[in-house]
Amino acid sequence: MEYQHVLVERDGPVGLVTLNRPRVLNALSPALVAELSDALRGFDDDAEIGAVVLTGGPRVFAAGADIGDMADRSPVEQLQRDQTGRWAAIAAFSKPLIAAVNGYALGGGCELALMCDLIIAGDTARFGQPEINLGIIPGAGGTQRWPRTVGKYVAMEVTLGGAPLTAQRAHQLGLVNKVVPAEVTIGVARQVAAQLAEKAPVAVRLAKEAVNRALETPLSEGLAAERRSFYFLFATEDQKEGMRAFLEKRRAQFKGR
Ligand code: CAA
Repeated sequence: MEYQHVLVERDGPVGLVTLNRPRVLNALSPALVAELSDALRGFDDDAEIGAVVLTGGPRVFAAGADIGDMADRSPVEQLQRDQTGRWAAIAAFSKPLIAAVNGYALGGGCELALMCDLIIAGDTARFGQPEINLGIIPGAGGTQRWPRTVGKYVAMEVTLGGAPLTAQRAHQLGLVNKVVPAEVTIGVARQVAAQLAEKAPVAVRLAKEAVNRALETPLSEGLAAERRSFYFLFATEDQKEGMRAFLEKRRAQFKGR
């Protein structure tokens, strides 16, 4: 697939996807989302890739779903295109996905960042759900992921009020892992991705799955699933290597097996 709306690069075990519609602040058109999903599927299938950074570049992450594309749609057209349902492919990405956010992450852009596993924010980042100002509500997970991340009251403030939060406030609330000067956001995210890409890939995948499961299941079910994955990992060569390397006081060489 040839991409028009995203740029895809690789740097050793780190993939980088850059949203690339700067003229409309990376508004998330269906074509862009399709390309993004395709690029992530490609990285998911690529055994050489251990982690991926998703960014909108130095100035903006994404100002939301493409309003021009949506303005005159009927509900049935929206249902048939299932525009936001198609984002499930992004949430299903099995490797660490790190958002590097500068400038606006609004509406669907914010929801996209919230689908990532870690968020590195530049000091210019602004996170918000302004859909209420358009007479709609978030449609790509905002009403569900905000309360699960920062609790009910901030989620209400953001979705009812529509005003964005600064990077610093998002960091205080635990929505963001790190706030850095905007000019180094992508570089820091790449470093974090490179560190994660060195870990045992099967363990990383199961750890991600287990943490995500915590947001969806009762504790007893989550604990049982965690235990099954924990025991399963003793079938991997990487578990033997990791523990042997510790005992032999050397660096482990993980192979993803
Ligand atoms: N869709 C389509 N075009 C968009 C856009 C969007 N979400 N956001 C910005 N643009 C376009 C603008 O129309 C403008 O295009 P023109 O130059 O052709 O006029 C260009 O990007 C630059 O934008 P502004 O001139 O508005 O830039 P600004 O710096 O003055 O303001 C902003 C920036 C505050 C982000 C403002 O653009 C804005 O409010 N954007 C819309 C944000 C929004 O409402 N997002 C939610 C969308 S709905 C959604 O996402 C639903 C969902 O849950 C999936």
